[in-house]
Amino acid sequence: MSQTLEQIISTHAGKPDELLMVAEQLMDRYRAIPTSALPLMQQQLGLTATEIQSVLSFYHYPVTDVPIKCHVEVCRALSCHLKSADAVLRHLCDALDAIPDQVTKDGRLLIARVDCLSDCERAPAVHINGEHVAATDLDALVKRIQAALA
Ligand code: FES
Repeated sequence: MSQTLEQIISTHAGKPDELLMVAEQLMDRYRAIPTSALPLMQQQLGLTATEIQSVLSFYHYPVTDVPIKCHVEVCRALSCHLKSADAVLRHLCDALDAIPDQVTKDGRLLIARVDCLSDCERAPAVHINGEHVAATDLDALVKRIQAALA
């Protein structure tokens, strides 16, 4: 059974250095940071809104209550940059009418530029909803994202 928002956050109560872990768990569970999580994170972790917001924006974690159906992460770190990650990002954004690091107007898709996904040997690394996908055939990649949005 998956944990509730309150359970995820309270597990890290009093541990402000675990903010990133909380954010990752919320992203795994909700594919976004629900707005109701912010005051709980402040209260339980003992951090200010600004401290939380700066970490969430650095990692391009969206704060929204609209359920994102598809969260695409394109690594921009060195190994992936050298293997044309920028071209992958451009192709996906053009094909899907998206802007990097912004949730689409319908609230269903986020294509985020992220730092190393620990998948360097498969550069350029792309993850869709937390799972690695090959970025060798870009049209197939677009179709996969469209299928995730359907
Ligand atoms: S540099 Fe891209 S996954 Fe590590």
